Amino acid sequence: MARFHTLTVTDVHKTIRDAVVLTLAPTDGDFDFVQGQYLTFRRDFDGEELRRSYSICAGKDDGILQVGIKRVDGGAFSTWVNENISVGDQLEAMQPMGSFHAGGDKTDGKSYLAFAGGSGITPVLSILKTVLTREPTSEFTLVYANRGVSSIMFREELEDLKNLYIGRLTIIHILETDSQDIDLFTGRVDAEKCALLFKHWVDIKSVDTAYICGPEPMMLTISKSLKDHGLSEDQIKFELFASGQPGRAKRKAQSVDAGNHTGTTQATIVMDGSTRSFTMPKDGETLLEAAIKNDIDAPFSCKAGVCSTCRAKLLEGEVEMVANHALEDYEVEQGYILTCQCYPLSEKIVVDYDQ
Ligand SMILES: Cc1cc2nc3c(=O)[nH]c(=O)nc-3n(C[C@H](O)[C@H](O)[C@H](O)COP(=O)(O)OP(=O)(O)OC[C@H]3O[C@@H](n4cnc5c(N)ncnc54)[C@H](O)[C@@H]3O)c2cc1C
Ligand code: FES
Repeated sequence: MARFHTLTVTDVHKTIRDAVVLTLAPTDGDFDFVQGQYLTFRRDFDGEELRRSYSICAGKDDGILQVGIKRVDGGAFSTWVNENISVGDQLEAMQPMGSFHAGGDKTDGKSYLAFAGGSGITPVLSILKTVLTREPTSEFTLVYANRGVSSIMFREELEDLKNLYIGRLTIIHILETDSQDIDLFTGRVDAEKCALLFKHWVDIKSVDTAYICGPEPMMLTISKSLKDHGLSEDQIKFELFASGQPGRAKRKAQSVDAGNHTGTTQATIVMDGSTRSFTMPKDGETLLEAAIKNDIDAPFSCKAGVCSTCRAKLLEGEVEMVANHALEDYEVEQGYILTCQCYPLSEKIVVDYDQ
């Protein structure tokens, strides 16, 4: 089964000066998605393959596949897309992945709160549109942080949605540099601002699920504030776009004999219904690197523990997972690991990419 599929670009439009929205038509493969999921693209840059993930910004019922890509200063893939892509071009991408979602399952009557920063709006937009379409009595509050008015992605679309869903969709723009009528809406989203928002603008007690997607320091602050104001861990879902700062606490997938880092491991990999085994050192290379070295087409993108593209289930043995910015606690408890961050500890491990 080919992991990457070809998509044709059928529309390109600039949502702001530094970001494009691409509409994509799959030529093969199943690109049905769950709101909040992302696509992983690959492209060669001077002989080096880069893989980058971009969240789908279309709602489930929009009938299209769209991603919004913001240009990062000095960034290879995002700059290339923003400066070079045009209608008719073809891109290669893996099928939709990720578990940044809840709602949209016709549960109805719920209250959702989302915080997005900059390009972190993309999965939130998909979730927001899906929830408002599928849950006619649910409400959604979006707090969207940007540097200034000119950097608000999807500004007009959000305005249209607000008008379409009057009384059900509330949008609060927080702008770092541009001043607004209400002082609270200017500056950075910090703990103090969250506390004031929860006091005057957001009925935090009625919130069923909160989503956060944006720069990591902002996400950590908001997540803490939400918890301080009564939300439980499993009511908060977050998606990280980059791993500049330390994120979620490092977690071990299994109980670990910390000294057991020498010698080799017999690794067995289950993928696409077939099983392959190889010997790998316990130190020096990750499980993902060893699998690729042994000609297994294991999925990956960021290789930094951020995106979860390399997620698999540990069926047997012990590993040490040195970073985890993507898996939720319950997934780790069920034995899921990020293979790009795992080193074997036991003599034998069995890992399943198909679950
Ligand atoms: C699950 C997920 C979903 C995402 N969804 C979106 C989305 O919907 N929209 C979006 O815009 N982004 C999204 N991202 C982020 C995206 O995947 C990329 O990380 C982003 O576009 C930057 O990629 P790039 O190739 O342009 O930059 P890179 O080339 O990776 O560079 C990133 C930064 O590092 C710096 N840098 C690069 N090389 C060096 C070096 N050698 N030394 C010092 N600095 C260096 C660059 O200057 C730049 O500032 C998502 C990420 C994840 C994990
Ligand atoms: S490849 Fe992104 S978390 Fe492993």
